[in-house]
This record gives sequence, structure tokens and C-alpha cells, in this order.
Amino acid sequence: MKFHLNDSMNANNIINEVLEKIKPVPAEQQKIQEVAGHIISLVDRAAAGTGLTDVSGMLVGSAARGTWISGEHDLDIFITFPEDTPEQDLKTVGLNVARQVAADADNSEERYAEHPYVHAVFDDFEVDLVPCFRVGSAAQIKSAVDRTPFHNLFILDRINGLEDDVLLLKQFMKGAGVYGSDLRTGGFSGYLAELLVIHYGSFMEVLQAADGWKPGTTIDIMEHGNRQHNDPVVMVDPTDPARNVAAALTLDRFAGFIDRARQYLDSPAVEQFLHNPAAPLSDTEFENITARRGTELLAVVFDKPNVVDDVLYPQLFMLHSSITALLSRHKFSVLNSDVWAGDGEAAVVLEMEVQYLPPVKKHAGPPVWEQSHTGKFKQKYLQNKGLSGVYIENGRYVVDVQRKYTDAADLLRNELHTCRLGRHMGESIKLGFKILQGSELLELDNQGFREFLTGFYHLNEIS
Ligand code: CTP
Ligand code: MG
Repeated sequence: MKFHLNDSMNANNIINEVLEKIKPVPAEQQKIQEVAGHIISLVDRAAAGTGLTDVSGMLVGSAARGTWISGEHDLDIFITFPEDTPEQDLKTVGLNVARQVAADADNSEERYAEHPYVHAVFDDFEVDLVPCFRVGSAAQIKSAVDRTPFHNLFILDRINGLEDDVLLLKQFMKGAGVYGSDLRTGGFSGYLAELLVIHYGSFMEVLQAADGWKPGTTIDIMEHGNRQHNDPVVMVDPTDPARNVAAALTLDRFAGFIDRARQYLDSPAVEQFLHNPAAPLSDTEFENITARRGTELLAVVFDKPNVVDDVLYPQLFMLHSSITALLSRHKFSVLNSDVWAGDGEAAVVLEMEVQYLPPVKKHAGPPVWEQSHTGKFKQKYLQNKGLSGVYIENGRYVVDVQRKYTDAADLLRNELHTCRLGRHMGESIKLGFKILQGSELLELDNQGFREFLTGFYHLNEIS
């Protein structure tokens, strides 16, 4: 790749322009530290009130490491308990302390991960109050969140001077739509972005490395990995030899990042740091695109169960693959498909390559030389009037019979209950669902669904 002085000046200007937007100014940094300090003192006070002297608050996550993006006010505050605390005590006392702290907040709600925790809003700060055990090392954790304090120490030891590079990488990943290790996104976590910068040395060096990544790329900073992982990127957790930090990264987010890194290395632009929301598809655009493609959409629509995204999306993905498998077993071919969730409803959306099939299908019987079975087969289909008689093909008896479903929509209507629905989705679908077809999908008349459709047809990627 050719690189001219002008290019490098241009790249520097871009980076400075982006940093100006995403780097917290000193006043913002001071404010977040003040708020964190205040909440930690509330944790310590509430803990002392329960008679436990050994329970204390601790700031972790990007706010503790100087790697949070300006304007994002998420605080991860852990309520740490001695390792020998009985699990039940951690749950009840932890929640109790978190509730007391949250009593001072503008509003709050209890959420559930491995242990219950509290999400509270103080001014415009979104605060997670998470109980955890203070264990000896990240390899001895008792619950998944116990690793986080170790991540904190590891990053704090090495991040000095690299904070801007982490900010740039996180923002670049947001622009590419690959940031976030939640199960819906399946992208890169903040900790993974930090480790990539520490390993490769800078934002640009991460992009240059990604240009050469292949699935199975393995990074083991501490050279202590002791497990096989079958993931696109293996970043052995420097604090836990058995864990892959990049376990949530899907193949397509991995590939999406490589693609964007390559584009940036070829011709850097500020726009690549911005996430371009898809424009909503209008009725006319919908009619045009479906007419030109000559396909029709089908959607299985039902009430969205009231669960968090990390529970909802895995069930939606499972339902999606179960539905496409059902269609394929019945020879209906799907060209594109995806899942969608709005405020009240959720859907599996399918663009059918083949939605209708003829009433006839082939039914294969036994090979002619399997004496014991052939009599029964011939007997059964002797009366098969109208479609075909029994004939021989590739050594087997074959007969053309009536197909049960000639329309994929009927198949879905009648057999959806045989799909793997997932617990919450199953409960919702049992209460009712509908199959929408073609322009009926526009009944899901909200902005979010129209934006989804633009993405579904990949229209935002046409330039
Ligand atoms: N964490 C983790 N694995 C995840 C998510 C979180 O190990 N899949 C740990 C990390 O130590 C992380 C901390 O929990 O730093 C807080 O998580 P989160 O707020 O999601 O990430 P941040 O690093 O704070 O990044 P961001 O700037 O996006 O908030
Ligand atoms: Mg955070």
C-alpha cells in the first residue's frame, strides 16, 4: 500500500477531529469522578449499616480506566464482598446495599444476571450496582462478574498513554456497528478493545493487524492459555487462562470489522467513525424494491415477551434458525431472513425465493432389491390414482404424491408450534401469532420497522 505524506497528515487531522468529539474534557472527567466517589461513599455507608465492615464499593469498567467516550455516562460500581461470604448472603445483603444506595437515585430498577443487581439513574449517570466476590485470582471466581476487578487492575497497569487509542478504536467499532458484546450485537467488548490496543500498540496498528486477520486469530498476551476455543478471534483473558474475552464475537461482526479497517486504511474519513442509521423505507420504496426483486416477504409476528435483550435475542435467533430449517425440510427456499423486535412486537422476517410449490412431490420408496419392503410399498401406492403410478428411479421405487403444503405461509401457520420456540417466546406464541405477507408487513407501521427493512435489503450499503 502506498502511503504519502499528505495521507498521513490527512489521517492525523481526522484522528484529531474525532478525538475532539469523543475525548472527555477535564471538567467532564472531574464530574464523573465526583459522582463515582459520591456513590462509592453511599455504598460504604450502606454496607457499614449492615454490620459488615469488609464490604466496599469499587469503580470498575471504562470510567475507572479513562477509556469512556465523552457524553456516555455509564458507571460500573461493584459492591465487593470477602471471598468466604456465603453466596446467599452476597445475594441478599448485596441487593439490600444496592437498594439503599439507589434510594438516593432519580429512579432505579432491579435486573438479573447471574446475581440480581440494581440499575440506577443519578442525574444523567446510568449506574450499575453489582455485588461480587473479592477472590484471590480471576481463575478462582465464583461468579462471572468477579473477573472484572482483575480486568481493571490489568488494564490500569498498562493503559497509561494509550487511552486516546482505545477511544478511537471503540468509536471506530461503533461506526462499523461491531461494538458491544451483548448477545444481540455479538461484537467487541470495551475490555477487548483495550486489550487489542495494548497488544498491537495503537489504534492504527490494530487496524493494520485486522487487515491480515483470519478466523482463528489468537492473541495470548500472558502466554498462559490452556483451552481450545472455536471462535473467530481468541483473546485469552490475561487474568484467566481458560477464558476467551472475544467469545461473544460472531463471524460476521469479525468480518465487518476487517472490512471497515481495510476501507479506513485505503482512504480514511471521519464518516467511518459515525454510525449511519438506516433511513426508513417508504411505501413506494418498498413496492419498488419487492417488484424489482420479484420476491415477497413473509413475517411471523407475535407479542414481544417482556425480558431483557440478552434473553430475548438468543431465543429469537433460535426461533429464526428453527423456522428456516422447517421451510427447507419442506423445500421452500429462503433468500434472506432476519429477526426484528420493536416496542411491543417481535418478528422473524423471511424473503422467500420459493414461496409456492406445485401440489405434486416425489416420494421415494425402498430399493427394488430390498425384497421384504417392496411389497408393502407397492401395495400402499397402487391406489395412488391421479398423480402417478409407482415407477423406478435410481434403483428405487418412487411415486408422485400430494404435497401437504403448497404455500409456505400455510406451513408456518400450521407447523410453527413444532419449531424450537424458546421459553418466553413459546409462551407468547402460544397466546397467538400472525403471518403477514407482502405489503401487509407495512402494518408493522413504525419507524423502527421501516429502518429494519432498509437494513434487511442492504439498501444502506449501496453507494
Ligand atoms: N465485562 C466482561 N465481559 C463482558 C462485558 C463486561 O468482562 N462481555 C467486564 C469488563 O471488565 C468491563 C466491565 O465488565 O470493563 C464493564 O462492562 P461494560 O460497561 O460493558 O464495558 P466497559 O469496559 O465499561 O466499556 P464501555 O465504555 O462500553 O462502557
Ligand atoms: Mg461501562
